[in-house]
Amino acid sequence: MSKPHQITAIKGMNDILPPDSARWEWLEHVVRRVMAAHAYRNVRTPIMELTQLFTRGLGEVTDIVEKEMYSFQDRQDKHGDADHLSLRPEGTAGLVRAVAEHNLLYDGGKRLYYLGPMFRRERPQRGRYRQFHQVGAEALGFGGPEVDAEMILLAVALWRELGITNWRLELNSLGQPDERRQHRAALIAYFEQHQEQLDEDARRRLHSNPLRILDTKNPAMQALVEGAPKLIDYLGEASQKHFAAVQAILQASGIEWRINPRLVRGLDYYNLTVFEFITESLGAQGTICGGGRYDYLIEQIGGKPAPAVGWALGVERVLELLREEGVQVPEPAPDAYAVITGADAVAPAMRCLQALRAQGVAVQMHAAPGAGDAGMGSMKSQFKRADASGARYALIFGADELAAGEVTVKALRDGGGAQVRQPLADPAAWAGSLKSPADSKH
Ligand code: HAM
Repeated sequence: MSKPHQITAIKGMNDILPPDSARWEWLEHVVRRVMAAHAYRNVRTPIMELTQLFTRGLGEVTDIVEKEMYSFQDRQDKHGDADHLSLRPEGTAGLVRAVAEHNLLYDGGKRLYYLGPMFRRERPQRGRYRQFHQVGAEALGFGGPEVDAEMILLAVALWRELGITNWRLELNSLGQPDERRQHRAALIAYFEQHQEQLDEDARRRLHSNPLRILDTKNPAMQALVEGAPKLIDYLGEASQKHFAAVQAILQASGIEWRINPRLVRGLDYYNLTVFEFITESLGAQGTICGGGRYDYLIEQIGGKPAPAVGWALGVERVLELLREEGVQVPEPAPDAYAVITGADAVAPAMRCLQALRAQGVAVQMHAAPGAGDAGMGSMKSQFKRADASGARYALIFGADELAAGEVTVKALRDGGGAQVRQPLADPAAWAGSLKSPADSKH
């Protein structure tokens, strides 16, 4: 029989394995703590939705909907009907659907957050994957500028708690739909006057989504784009006031920002405030977090109108940034490693370990390496494993100890190999001496 070929993961989709997964868990832990401190509650929606949620919610002519969604037709039901489904490319549309469907705003605004995988069929490169993860925060049912500012401050609190310092904040206001319509007409007129300078992409977008032309990466079009009518000049009084109020709060909070009139975001649902957090440390994919206000999305997908604002950050990018900035993340290690010398010791050892674990001590048990009945291995090889585990203590279940109804506790790190005997009968009495100091835990 020929050897079956090795099956690999799908391009752009990553396995998250130890020791890296500990960094993910730490980040998630910090996220939960910061969200709780701001009274944001967790939401989990399906990773698949009806395709039309995204075409309607994100906009037909966005890159995501045009070419990046993983979509397929479901199997036919008994009536011969089949749904068009998509893996979620982002979390806001699904969350807003859930909020509308379950009438979550019936007793007032809600502050929510989520954390999970998203899927976009982009060209994989550093910081850009086909399955990636977002942490998102959304506040629904609040229309005032104070919540835009709270959102931004929430992200800043997260950077602080994670130890990230290399970021800058860019802000813009996209105004309201009627202001955008006027600006759009001016923009189309401007680009029509300069047709010959437009590239193919821009020509295609001229009448469908001219705002996105401002986002072009084409160096030949930079001068043209610089001279284009700016949306900010088309904002009415109320929009200007909202934007000014957001900035006043940020200023009073000691936050620095830069207004970027070309910041338009890649999704169509935004109005008024939009923002991005950008770092210089990650090369081309430097946007670690983006968001803004989306006051019309709920009604667009058929819900009762309600204002909303939110953001999402890219977990892979933030973790990469933590690495670039040399942020130390606590590495998990058991408190103790159980060295077990003979088959007779296994059952009493395991009884003792379960009792210790019930007291909150993290214990790793030595187990026979490899297949078959090869035995536990020599003391020397077991101690090597104990050292590699990072444990601070070895628990030695040897024949001598068992005969005396005891276990030897040996310090592996500080304490220079000091050892004491403890009674097997009452592990709860000495479990506390094995626990790590609270500050080395998450
Ligand atoms: P977005 O700007 O499309 O916004 O994505 C937010 C963040 O997700 C980006 O800034 C980036 O860090 C990360 N990200 C996006 N695509 C990828 C990828 N292919 N690989 C790795 N990371 C990626 C949204 O998704 C909106 N739902 C944000 C929002 C929430 N607006 C209002 N509420």
